[in-house]
Amino acid sequence: MRALALLVCLTTTPAVADEAALARAAKIVAGSCFLCHGTRGESASEQYPRLAAQNAAYIAKQLANFRSGARKSATMQPMVAELAPADMDALGLYFSRQKSEPHAPADARLAAQGMGIYRRGGAATEVAACIGCHGERGHGSEKLPRLAGQVGAYLAAQMRNFGARVRTNDNAVMHTIAAKMSAAEIRAVAEYLSGLE
Ligand code: HEC
Ligand code: HEC
Repeated sequence: MRALALLVCLTTTPAVADEAALARAAKIVAGSCFLCHGTRGESASEQYPRLAAQNAAYIAKQLANFRSGARKSATMQPMVAELAPADMDALGLYFSRQKSEPHAPADARLAAQGMGIYRRGGAATEVAACIGCHGERGHGSEKLPRLAGQVGAYLAAQMRNFGARVRTNDNAVMHTIAAKMSAAEIRAVAEYLSGLE
């Protein structure tokens, strides 16, 4: 009997903890985040990044970075001022569980050029292929951001921020890559990624 009780305990505790975290996150989202990112992470407008299906640990890290000021955003900093680390983890879990919706790229020819850069890198500019880190379908990994289906204008803005060392909260990997890219390459790769599912 004791062994059975222990087994039940071991198998249900993580799920119960997840439920509690998801409920806590849903409350925070309904209180503020939904205004820009939507209740399910499918943002209200192209001005805001999509969070649906984004990787949990990446989200929690960005929230902590906004809070400490390591990643600068006048919009996001006040949003995270009251969040505890457990809230950040809960929000990461919540958004990672939302389904991302398909978005067709607006310009198919530009997207095809972007696919070449994503998969093989930039020929003239010697940019590293993105696929090596962000994955075959742009889904990233636990710590690496998902890029698939992200708003194109947001992706391009972040690339410019990395290149100009305005966004400095990563391990410098993205600086070297983005600094080498031309404006045309950034536009093309952003267009391609915005249409990936
Ligand atoms: C008033 C609009 C607004 C609200 C409300 C808001 N955000 Fe944001 N959020 C933004 C903008 C704009 C950015 C892009 C910042 C930048 O340019 O780096 C952003 C970026 C983010 C990112 C980084 C995304 C990425 O791909 O790196 C996360 C995570 C995030 N917000 C989570 C939240 C959470 C959680 C809340 C609620 C507690 C919230 N946001 C509330 C506007 C908002
Ligand atoms: C060597 C590994 C590596 C390669 C290659 C790489 N990236 Fe990244 N990328 C990262 C890491 C790590 C981060 C997360 C930075 C952080 O935590 O702040 C990132 C973040 C990003 C972001 C920010 C996402 C967001 O939601 O804000 C964009 C956009 C991006 N990369 C685009 C690209 C593109 C386009 C390429 C190819 C031209 C590329 N990356 C190649 C490692 C890489």
